Amino acid sequence: MIRLEGISFAYDPAHPVLDQVDFTLSAGERVALNGPNGAGKTTLLHLMVGLVRPRKGRVVAFGRERRTETDFVEVRSRAGLLFQDADDQLFCPTVAEDVAFGPLNQGKSRAEARAIVRQTLADLGLESLENRVTHKLSGGQRRLVSLAAVLAMRPEALLLDEPTNALDEATRARLLDILAGLPLAMVVVSHDREVLDRLATRSAWLEGGRLG
Ligand SMILES: Nc1ncnc2c1ncn2[C@@H]1O[C@H](COP(=O)(O)OP(=O)(O)OP(=O)(O)O)[C@@H](O)[C@H]1O
Ligand SMILES: [Mg+2]
Repeated sequence: MIRLEGISFAYDPAHPVLDQVDFTLSAGERVALNGPNGAGKTTLLHLMVGLVRPRKGRVVAFGRERRTETDFVEVRSRAGLLFQDADDQLFCPTVAEDVAFGPLNQGKSRAEARAIVRQTLADLGLESLENRVTHKLSGGQRRLVSLAAVLAMRPEALLLDEPTNALDEATRARLLDILAGLPLAMVVVSHDREVLDRLATRSAWLEGGRLG
């Protein structure tokens, strides 16, 4: 579904982050991606959806090489990225608006988007949050609403950046159950042992700019 070929990347030339990285996410796979802080895990996910562009190498997604912003707009609609920080994901006044944002952007009508919001929140057991003010939610609630915002776009693949980080035990267990039940290809960046044990079909380790 998504393939990185020989990707090298640096935010600043003196500090290379990725060095000739190859990575493939195939349909049906759930890849756990781990590595030390600052290794470039978040950067790798951002490269896949064109939030940053490689200095060298190719991004191939859903059967085509992707280069331009237009290419990546489509990729971002088909591969849903859950940001490491929920505040990067949620920017609307209310939960309903945040979750409707993706579908509306995809060209759904107001009525269609509303139905998707209802359904997605219900699937995640978050109906009661629909009319809440997003920035007044707790950290864990924001994380779950972020996932709702991603799933509302009905993505074919999920890129999850530390989804269980800072969640209490019950919320974490609920999130893992939800993710385990989704029939989607996933890359899950996580230091959480249970993510690896319960979710992953394989794991990858990023360190020193290289993927192993
Ligand atoms: N916007 C940015 N501008 C400059 N440097 C950045 C930027 N974002 C990340 N970096 C640097 O790039 C490197 C990789 O960062 P990245 O966030 O991808 O690591 P990570 O593996 O996700 O770390 P963590 O486990 O802490 O989330 C780090 O050295 C970081 O300081
Ligand atoms: Mg990160």
